[in-house]
Amino acid sequence: MTPSAGGTSWQTCPRCHRDLDLSFAGSACPACGDLLEVRHRPPGSSGVALRELFAGRRGAEGELDRSGVWRFREVVLPDAKAGEVVSHPEGNTPLLRRGSVEQWTGIGGLLLKHEGHNPTGSFKDRGMTVGVTVAKRIGARAVACASTGNTSASLAAYGALAGIPALVFVPAGQVAAGKLAQTIAYGARTLLVRGDFDVCFALAREASEKLNVYLLNSVNPFRLEGQKTIVLEMLEQLGWEPPDWIVLPAGNLGNTSAFGKALREARELGLIPRLPRLAAVQAEGANPFARGFREGFARRHRVKAETAATAIRIGDPASLERAVEAIRATDGVVTDVTDAEILEAKAVVDASGVGCEPASAASVAGARNLAAAGMIRPGESVVAVLTGHILKDPGLLLRYHQEMDPPPPGANRPVEIEPTLAAVEEVLRERP
Ligand code: F0G
Repeated sequence: MTPSAGGTSWQTCPRCHRDLDLSFAGSACPACGDLLEVRHRPPGSSGVALRELFAGRRGAEGELDRSGVWRFREVVLPDAKAGEVVSHPEGNTPLLRRGSVEQWTGIGGLLLKHEGHNPTGSFKDRGMTVGVTVAKRIGARAVACASTGNTSASLAAYGALAGIPALVFVPAGQVAAGKLAQTIAYGARTLLVRGDFDVCFALAREASEKLNVYLLNSVNPFRLEGQKTIVLEMLEQLGWEPPDWIVLPAGNLGNTSAFGKALREARELGLIPRLPRLAAVQAEGANPFARGFREGFARRHRVKAETAATAIRIGDPASLERAVEAIRATDGVVTDVTDAEILEAKAVVDASGVGCEPASAASVAGARNLAAAGMIRPGESVVAVLTGHILKDPGLLLRYHQEMDPPPPGANRPVEIEPTLAAVEEVLRERP
């Protein structure tokens, strides 16, 4: 099918194969209710030529080329133009290697793709630059999302960049301080909803349908087009030699879906010869996807979510079906980790000088368990995605290091002293 109105991208329903214009603003197929997917006209090149096109833009100064999302525009939104895109810029995040994290996980050669280096401190910016660009193109009067905090921070920032009012629905009392502070400071109208994320999401969806506001949760398929570039950029950083595994934290399952689509397209375009296996990691108290995986995805699970990793405190993920496809297509796995494992992994990543937010550490904790169980085999190459910045959740950090009794693994208690050299000497005698 071809898009209407001469554009290069359109939306399609993977279930009933109905095509819709890019400007269709609903969050699901109007015929069958399934989530929509974005399709593009194929790029003029593939394989090595396409890799070279992407590489040639690296380090360039143009508005599109300097973004780690828009320099992959042929597979994101091919007709995007400079002057049109709402870009910070974003992306271009590092792939890090830290000995202490390798040692703790037992995975030599473990790499960390740090999405906390994005402008608002999480991977959400990669999707939001595309989502808000489309919102601007179709003349949305306002944009909205439900969020556990990172999406709302990102939406607030990109809404401000575009000059489009942003409305966010967050669970009252359950959002990490850094994220709430950002959302408010960037100027979004912030609604503290008396309910959990799943309640917020249902309300945001209803409000967007009835009040003519453009919904920018990850059910918006343009968000996923931007998030695909986490994988593309990582593969490029690896010289297009795919790792054996990509491990990522999983909540509402937009990112798992985006990774599956990115990998499928990268192989179809001849960018990579084979697919890495995806490992999606949930918190044990918010694990409907992991429960489903253990039963061969025989039925849909919904749970009342509870975890210290508030970013992934989600009991009824919206993008479940696409994520199941991503796991199946990559011979992937879904696992879950306890809050204690998440916090210990976080303490290790933090103490390596890298740092990440709690949900991000789920990928490192999950990688460690998968290696211990023999699922990730010795010598296999693994990239764990760190989805958010260490400063997103200062409250939990301070509780972990200062207040928990007995002190948990890696706790680094600060010491209050009198302002004397003797007091300093005394402390250094205990631990230099
Ligand atoms: N890691 C972080 C730091 C997140 O903020 C999220 C999701 C995820 C992982 C999981 O990604 O939902 O695509 O499976 N945060 C959303 C939000 C829900 O509102 O910020 P997912």
